[in-house]
Amino acid sequence: MSPRVFVTRCIPQCGLEKLEESVDCRVWPGAMPPAPDELLEHASGCEGLVTLLSDRMDGDVMDAIGSQLKVIANYAVGYNNIDVNAATERGIRVGNTPGVLTEATADIAVGLVLAAARSFGEGLANVADRQWRTWEPMGFIGQDLRERTVGIIGFGRIGQAIARRLRFGWNMQVLYFSRSAKPEIDAELGSRRVELDELLQSSDFISVNTSLTPETHHLINAAALAQMRPHAVLVNTARGEVVDQDALYEALREGRIFAAGLDVTTPEPLADDSPLRELSNSLILPHIGSATHDSRNAMSDIAAENVLAGLRGEPLPHGVN
Ligand code: DGY
Repeated sequence: MSPRVFVTRCIPQCGLEKLEESVDCRVWPGAMPPAPDELLEHASGCEGLVTLLSDRMDGDVMDAIGSQLKVIANYAVGYNNIDVNAATERGIRVGNTPGVLTEATADIAVGLVLAAARSFGEGLANVADRQWRTWEPMGFIGQDLRERTVGIIGFGRIGQAIARRLRFGWNMQVLYFSRSAKPEIDAELGSRRVELDELLQSSDFISVNTSLTPETHHLINAAALAQMRPHAVLVNTARGEVVDQDALYEALREGRIFAAGLDVTTPEPLADDSPLRELSNSLILPHIGSATHDSRNAMSDIAAENVLAGLRGEPLPHGVN
């Protein structure tokens, strides 16, 4: 009998076809994620799972699915939705999809830098609300980008791709906060590793690109925001929880920083009554960093390859444990 695999949402066909060649693959048909009990009902008895970042996979869920579970392939580079230690303890391999969404996510980050710095939010609302009366000599004045300083928090693949765009596009000076120094990148971009305080105080643009861990939860809190320059623009394309959203709201409302561009929020979707939705200097996207054809197809392929390797009992091509 073919091993059973449950895919918790419809993903691009290329990966599903790979799975269907050798496994009994079921795909959750809904446009919304399965509720926890629905996920358990469909995943129970499966040997492999393809999960999304909206699926919470902790030890209890793994136990409820059953001891035959061999592999969980997250359809994302981030895997903070999975308790990797719990998986390791149970002999379950966990995989992710690194590398293939770097450029797409960097593009969205740079789009947010530009859009937030140049008040796209206000401009779009002005047109949509039929408020566009005349050319505004004093309106919609935003921040210059050329030869400014960007501070990147988390200098992995995506952070570096953003740095390249800003360095070579607008000749920005690049500072970064990271566990390790990156001498080759420094040689290429003239970038400089600094402490977080220096980055917060010296940057005109700040891009959050660190993964979510207990250490980075609310790394950007009221104290961090208070150190930023009044014209600073904060962009987050990593995980919403890295930023204390209440503190960000206060900083934006009081004009203590200029604007924010967020591709990620807490929760997702952002609550309908979140005051962040009301601010003209907060620009919010529905977590679309990896949403291009190439990236999503490649993510689908990698997730399938991770599952198939896990079912064979082999190390995953992109494993995290
Ligand atoms: C990821 O891969 O972690 C992104 O947040 C979604 O593609």
